[in-house]
Amino acid sequence: MPEKRSIPICPAAEFPPGERRIIETEDGRSIGVFNVHGKYYALRNYCPHAGAELCRGVVTGMNEPSGVGEFRWVREGEILRCPWHGWEFDILTGRSVFSPNQVRVATYETAVESFEAGVDEVGMVVVRV
Ligand code: FES
Repeated sequence: MPEKRSIPICPAAEFPPGERRIIETEDGRSIGVFNVHGKYYALRNYCPHAGAELCRGVVTGMNEPSGVGEFRWVREGEILRCPWHGWEFDILTGRSVFSPNQVRVATYETAVESFEAGVDEVGMVVVRV
């Protein structure tokens, strides 16, 4: 299996929680990188329903199962809603909310790697493909 390449996104200091970046790889993949509560996650920017740019959708939370008339909002900032028809995905795993074992989007490993910038070391967010 070929070794994975690290694609630099931007310095971690410029990528705060709640933000996203969308990149294009040399081989034509579009990937969305999200900072969720201080950790980085990367998803293929392609909705498995009908091909929308999934990673441009709203980042939100969800209601967890509860009793009749009860609404418990959970996981704020961890759920991505497709901009075309509203399918929702867990940013942390790529799995859909409605059918997590059958419908999912590809995920990629992320890391913060040290780069030298003059005399300083900079923590750079990377995605491995
Ligand atoms: S294309 Fe994403 S929900 Fe339809």
